[in-house]
Amino acid sequence: MTASVPAVRTVEDLRAQVHAWKREGLRVGLVPTMGALHHGHLSLVNAIAEKVDRIVVSIFVNPTQFGEGEDFDAYPRTEAEDRKKLADTPASLVFAPNGAEMYRTGHASTVTVAGLTDRFEGASRPGHFDGVATVVTKLLLQCLPDVAIFGEKDYQQLAVIRRFVADLDIPVEIMGGALIRESDGLAASSRNAYLNAEERAIAGKFNVILKELVADVSAGADLRTAEQAASDKLLEAGFKAVDYVSIVDANSLEIIDKITTPARVLAVARIGSVRLLDNMAIEAR
Ligand code: PAF
Repeated sequence: MTASVPAVRTVEDLRAQVHAWKREGLRVGLVPTMGALHHGHLSLVNAIAEKVDRIVVSIFVNPTQFGEGEDFDAYPRTEAEDRKKLADTPASLVFAPNGAEMYRTGHASTVTVAGLTDRFEGASRPGHFDGVATVVTKLLLQCLPDVAIFGEKDYQQLAVIRRFVADLDIPVEIMGGALIRESDGLAASSRNAYLNAEERAIAGKFNVILKELVADVSAGADLRTAEQAASDKLLEAGFKAVDYVSIVDANSLEIIDKITTPARVLAVARIGSVRLLDNMAIEAR
């Protein structure tokens, strides 16, 4: 029988285990996920292992962060396989609550982050970040880890989480995990599984085009011209639509005109019904 990481399903059982570890003086880490684990998630488990003694991986496909017509029902649910994959990592425990455990009868509270959520993913997916902020707040308070890690793949999500954790004085260190890429450079994502072979080949050009943008901008190109050129190249490469290609300040996510502080290009392009996200650092010159 293949080994599998044990799971608890209730907040009570999660807290009992975390309290037991803390009584032993162990540091606890949390890796929040929606399951369908790929090597990007596993890299987060390995990265947080450097800071903690025990690791909880939560698996919960959070309904409140999916909009109307999005893929909540179709989102892959693969808990048995996920727990087997985690057996090859330093993960200690899976927390896999059901919807009723996470959102109890009468649930009526939402965490909203102003400003940062107005643009990019917030504009394309109204209500998405309220769902993320609310479930992540709950997960952090349910587990009360010392450290929690989130991938830089969802760069705006990481910025939003850092904002409310600071604003609400949640006593957890937030760590960013490096974006993990497939062999052709496509950012690892559970949604890549939705791409057919032809779409997958097109998807591999996303990071190449963004790398060209970063090189052009680093060589002094005008930022708006470089964004437009990248967007045109994505459409020529076969992407159906480009939601945005934007160069922003790496911390505030404000659109900038010059690279004087660390910057980031954030981009979303669509192939078929799949929205692909990517982002890359642009160093200050
Ligand atoms: O990034 C994700 O997988 C989700 O948005 C998260 C942080 C687990 C919250 O549901």
